Amino acid sequence: MSTAILSALTEEQSSLVEHLAHPQRVMHAGRAFWLGELHDQRVVLALSGIGKVAAATTATALIEHFGVARIVFTGVAGGLGDGVNVGDVVVAQDYVQHDMDASPLFPRWELPGYARSRLACDPVLTAMLLEAVSHCVSGASGPWGLKTATGAAHVVHQGLVASGDRFVSTAHESRHLRTALCSAGHDVLAVEMEGAAVAQVCHDYGLPFAAVRTISDRADDEAHGDFAEFVQTVASRYAEQIMLSFVKLLQKT
Ligand code: ADE
Repeated sequence: MSTAILSALTEEQSSLVEHLAHPQRVMHAGRAFWLGELHDQRVVLALSGIGKVAAATTATALIEHFGVARIVFTGVAGGLGDGVNVGDVVVAQDYVQHDMDASPLFPRWELPGYARSRLACDPVLTAMLLEAVSHCVSGASGPWGLKTATGAAHVVHQGLVASGDRFVSTAHESRHLRTALCSAGHDVLAVEMEGAAVAQVCHDYGLPFAAVRTISDRADDEAHGDFAEFVQTVASRYAEQIMLSFVKLLQKT
């Protein structure tokens, strides 16, 4: 059984494709899937597409057509929580869809039919991701030479991530999002556009899922400014190092 590594962006995927042994490119559902091996582990690399529906289609194809045993997501996110800064890494503990609102039929943010608002990531895979991230943070050869503006090292966080079909790009919106979710007990660290959809598909199929996101922006008025450059120069290297380290850990299980 193989492991799916989903990336949100081509830059993140292409660095991993270069490491694939016996690479094979397969088209399905209008998407390219890369089959091969990383550290002797069978993997399928795929792009999620942007937004919840695209990501759900990709996840379903990975499960139904490629028969993967688990899905791991790597991508970027906007930092919402206090102290979640550009260059930090967030490992998701659970997911909420911030744009889910079937009120007054169901409580705000509740997933109709699931009797809950949050879907948890798999604890075993998540622990492995955290370990992989920590290897990269402490590894001298990793991409982690980066320092914050104050010279401090970047931080690894674990907690709740919110997904929705919006690129959050004003301080007003991110403040509103965070305060509203927090008032219902959802203390969100970061926001992105796909993870919760993949978590829901994996929940439906009973497949383990985990996700790691590098913080590319603070979901504020400057969110889109250096986005492309950040993805090209920083996030793609993070994804490469973390996933290679993760697959090595998988090899030992
Ligand atoms: N992914 C990265 N930054 C984001 C933002 N500000 N909003 C939504 N998704 C993102």
